[in-house]
Amino acid sequence: MHWPLLLALEAAWAGLGQATQHYPAMWGHYDVCKSQVYSDEGLTWDYMACQPEAADMTKYLRVALEPTNITCGDPAETYCALENPYMCNNECDASTKELAHPPELMFDFEGRNPTTFWQSTSWRKYPKPLLVNITLSWNKTIELTDDIVITFESGRPEQMVLEKSLDYGRTWLPYQFYATDCLDAFTMEPRTAQDLTQHTLLDVICTEEYSRGYVWKYDKTVRFEIKDRLALFAGPRLHNMASLYGQLDTTKNLRDFFTITDLRIKLLRPATGATMVDENNLSRYFYAISDIKVQGRCKCNLHANSCVFDKEKLVCECEHNTTGPDCGRCKRSYQGRVWSPGSYLPIPKGTANICVPNNIGPVNCECFGHSNRCSYIELLNTVICVSCKHNTRGQHCQLCKLGYYRNTSVELDDENVCIACNCDPFGSESERCNATGFCKCKSGTTGKHCSECLPGYLWDSGCKSQVCDDELLRCQNGGVCLSNLRCQCTVGFSGVLCEKPHCESEAAGCGGPDSARNTSCPSSAHLLLLLLALATASCWPAAL
Ligand SMILES: *[C@@H]1O[C@H](CO)[C@@H](O)[C@H](O)[C@H]1NC(C)=O
Ligand SMILES: *[C@@H]1O[C@H](CO)[C@@H](O)[C@H](O)[C@H]1NC(C)=O
Ligand SMILES: *[C@@H]1O[C@H](CO)[C@@H](O)[C@H](O)[C@H]1NC(C)=O
Ligand SMILES: *[C@@H]1O[C@H](CO)[C@@H](O)[C@H](O)[C@H]1NC(C)=O
Ligand SMILES: *[C@@H]1O[C@H](CO)[C@@H](O)[C@H](O)[C@H]1NC(C)=O
Ligand SMILES: *[C@@H]1O[C@H](CO)[C@@H](O)[C@H](O)[C@H]1NC(C)=O
Ligand SMILES: *[C@@H]1O[C@H](CO)[C@@H](O)[C@H](O)[C@H]1NC(C)=O
Ligand SMILES: *[C@@H]1O[C@H](CO)[C@@H](O)[C@H](O)[C@H]1NC(C)=O
Repeated sequence: MHWPLLLALEAAWAGLGQATQHYPAMWGHYDVCKSQVYSDEGLTWDYMACQPEAADMTKYLRVALEPTNITCGDPAETYCALENPYMCNNECDASTKELAHPPELMFDFEGRNPTTFWQSTSWRKYPKPLLVNITLSWNKTIELTDDIVITFESGRPEQMVLEKSLDYGRTWLPYQFYATDCLDAFTMEPRTAQDLTQHTLLDVICTEEYSRGYVWKYDKTVRFEIKDRLALFAGPRLHNMASLYGQLDTTKNLRDFFTITDLRIKLLRPATGATMVDENNLSRYFYAISDIKVQGRCKCNLHANSCVFDKEKLVCECEHNTTGPDCGRCKRSYQGRVWSPGSYLPIPKGTANICVPNNIGPVNCECFGHSNRCSYIELLNTVICVSCKHNTRGQHCQLCKLGYYRNTSVELDDENVCIACNCDPFGSESERCNATGFCKCKSGTTGKHCSECLPGYLWDSGCKSQVCDDELLRCQNGGVCLSNLRCQCTVGFSGVLCEKPHCESEAAGCGGPDSARNTSCPSSAHLLLLLLALATASCWPAAL
């Protein structure tokens, strides 16, 4: 099926009623993507930002109910009126078309008499809560342009939450909470959309406005106020669209707030009309929805002026050489510069930001003067600089390569923006240094480049724990320092620094505790006398 949304538009305007007539030009700009103009070169195209018309989005959704068997009529049931338990003429029987209340009836055309509606089973399992999730999925990003309006027959729920998803139902965020008593139900202070300001526009509020007063039989709607929020920027009659568009262009949070792929209505407690639930007649309590209005447009990133319903799915008809369901990419051979959405500014035509052919060369090739060559990476849909010079790296040569750090006192395009870390290859953990040029030192090493030793360490391809050193002559009694790691003692001496004269035996005190050793061994003056005894020395440390 190929179904331009424009066809649906007429019905949508009709459905909107009087309020809409104030805003005929509401989204009037940006309805064409290009037009032919005469210029010096003759007839050429002038490209503009563009977007599809707003339309009734309920025609294109999928609805899912949880639990799946929550719809009434299987088995058949008779329901009583909420306000009058003696009025029990509402029959639900799924096997009889006239008496069935399937979910589709939430989206059919209303205005007929009697109204048609979806209805849940009754609250048979009271006091177990009667919980229903109604999930509406578009499988397409859409932008809401008007209030979401849900019409309940037989009382509005006493507690419900409206949720949205921006990622096809993977994650959900609350849009608005509804309760007869917000504090009690959700521990939130009750507020209304009218309380919001430009600064609190994105607040998620709990409102009591649409839950109380079942006695007002004709007050059936629950609303999520899109227009009140838009009006905070565009003025009460949405006349100052320039201001709103300016905000939408620059504020991602704001754009995202009005953007959805799915909606979920979480029904948590049906209308009871009283503080007490009449346990003897639970046939009075159920949910019934006759209509859900969702007005919006396909999100096409200002690159399409129509959206089609093709193979059960909404797709933007992308212009400006863009492609993808939301026109979120440049076409294969039009990737000469990075894709970007169109812009609403300057009003009224905006900026198209068209995708340009690949062979145009280094357009948008922004490398801060460290390269003049770029390459398109299709997987990431982005253009990156190739062969960054001057020790830079990164998509735009905006970073210093490994082993260099940024000189913050010069601009990014300076040839000397990256300074060598010069980390000592032996003394450092890596080539990397921190933002002020300090290398990460191995233990025992210090200095900006890790080329110096801490006290107690000696340089030897890095700092080694210092045992001896020939210059300082630390090995005593003629010992020789080997690789700074140990003293090779001359015959007759032992000890780390060859400080111990050789001894006859353990019993004489050599190798024993220090206290005994110092006094019981001969002094170095008697060393030579002991030379002859060497061969049979019993306390010569084996390790040396
Ligand atoms: C409704 O959805 C929520 C997830 O948001 C889930 O936890 C809950 O069980 C669902 N309720 C029903 C009745 O399936
Ligand atoms: C719906 O199905 C669940 C699980 O199969 C069952 O426990 C429950 O009673 C059913 N509810 C109704 C209203 O039939
Ligand atoms: C509910 O009340 C009506 C009117 O009194 C009565 O006809 C019906 O049987 C009651 N249902 C139950 C389940 O008690
Ligand atoms: C959603 O659309 C994608 C294509 O964009 C398709 O592959 C997928 O099957 C669709 N999912 C559903 C649930 O229709
Ligand atoms: C792609 O853009 C060029 C202008 O750069 C335009 O002439 C051409 O019609 C566009 N092609 C498509 C398929 O939109
Ligand atoms: C950073 O650049 C400034 C200006 O060229 C220069 O004076 C300074 O010495 C540089 N810093 C380093 C650590 O090289
Ligand atoms: C870099 O390391 C040195 C030494 O550890 C430290 O004094 C300095 O604050 C560090 N600089 C930054 C920007 O982290
Ligand atoms: C033994 O000699 C060592 C090194 O000469 C010295 O550090 C130590 O205090 C002496 N011990 C005694 C008990 O005199």
